[in-house]
Amino acid sequence: MADTFSGTVAVVGLGYIGLPTAVVLATRDIDVIGVDIDPRIVSAVSRGEVPFAEPDLVVSLAGAVAMGTLSATDTVPLADAYIIAVPTPFNADHTADLSYVRRATEQIAPQLRGGEIVVLESTSPPGTTESVSRWLSELRPDLRLPHTDEGLPDIHIAHCPERVLPGRIMIEMITNDRVVGGITPLCAQRAASIYRVFCQGEICLTDAASAEMAKLVENAYRDINIAFANELSYVSDELELDVWEVIRLANRHPRVNILSPGPGVGGHCIAVDPWFIVGASPGSAKLIRTAREINDSKPNYVAQQVIETCTRFKNPTVACLGLTFKANVDDIRESPALHVVELIAKALPDVELLLADPFVHEVPDTLAGYESVRTARCRDAIAAADIVVELVDHDQFRSLSRSLLAGKVVYDTRGVWR
Ligand SMILES: NC(=O)c1ccc[n+]([C@@H]2O[C@H](COP(=O)([O-])OP(=O)(O)OC[C@H]3O[C@@H](n4cnc5c(N)ncnc54)[C@H](O)[C@@H]3O)[C@@H](O)[C@H]2O)c1
Repeated sequence: MADTFSGTVAVVGLGYIGLPTAVVLATRDIDVIGVDIDPRIVSAVSRGEVPFAEPDLVVSLAGAVAMGTLSATDTVPLADAYIIAVPTPFNADHTADLSYVRRATEQIAPQLRGGEIVVLESTSPPGTTESVSRWLSELRPDLRLPHTDEGLPDIHIAHCPERVLPGRIMIEMITNDRVVGGITPLCAQRAASIYRVFCQGEICLTDAASAEMAKLVENAYRDINIAFANELSYVSDELELDVWEVIRLANRHPRVNILSPGPGVGGHCIAVDPWFIVGASPGSAKLIRTAREINDSKPNYVAQQVIETCTRFKNPTVACLGLTFKANVDDIRESPALHVVELIAKALPDVELLLADPFVHEVPDTLAGYESVRTARCRDAIAAADIVVELVDHDQFRSLSRSLLAGKVVYDTRGVWR
């Protein structure tokens, strides 16, 4: 019978992925020690407070800390299993920046005694999990690592990518199917025992590189489909057609389901992960690269439309609705909406820009130098504006009365008012 893990887990990196993972394990009676290099995160988690907005996490985190099954520290402790959930951004040339994974591995290495499981959850290019094994063997030549010792290694290393949707992380972490790719089949088995503690979906065992690639492919698939919708928006504008109407009609076909265009693709997954495939196979991944380029071009296209419209007004006021990278979250990292606003502010520093986002209450750092940029309540921003640019499909914007928009130039990039 498949075994279920018992022991202590150290989760290295307490961000959007690591913290919910730590909490889900800790609320199922596993002793979890969360590790983060950011002292503000360590102190917030130690107080039982969530450092970012995610539904249902607040109560579970407070409960786990109060029960004593979850604690936080800045130092990697002794543990029976290590889950690495640190960032994997890309470099200026779009290659993966694995320095965080490397650093986390270096912190784990001195604590290993033999028998531990090390799981890489960070989204990574194919071969990264094996690199973790190689780095550990350099740092700990006394241990047998699975990339060289398939028989019975001292440490079991696997990749278990995360595919949760921000805003639904606490539900999806439990209900989604999970891919667990081991450097050896035994590594996959051992790592899967951790996920059996809480995962109600199917746990699919495979090799590490296939698991790494599967995660990247999921996000490249999404990116390509969004790029198709965004390309249709370019074509429709050129042909003076309403892209939303075209897509609505095409989707009446029983086997067609075109996604919605938008101001671009953001976040730290869909806008990043396809580049790891391009980096791994630059000659073959042509469609994936083109989709990235189409989606990356969209913020500039939207900003140029607004900038040109501004020239038709004497002292225009622009209401920018939404700054986050997607609806109903507070995360502005890699946000195309924020990028649109930055482009407008840079091109027209004197134009008054009113930023309204129910999840962002301060002017983001990248816009702090612009005196004409300030935050406002949504209705106030629209009332004061000549031009309204809808950038994120937050529920609050969808429910706004259309009558508020009368007499304004409206750019509804997400189609929320259709
Ligand atoms: N956020 C998502 O929706 C999502 C979904 C699927 C996969 N992922 C992947 O999960 C990984 C983590 O993403 P995230 O969104 O949780 O990132 P995040 O930036 O929210 O959190 C990462 C945390 O790691 C900490 N950290 C960095 N280096 C560290 C170290 N050496 N030791 C301890 N802590 C360290 C940072 O301080 C930060 O708190 C990334 O590879 C990302 O691509 C994210």
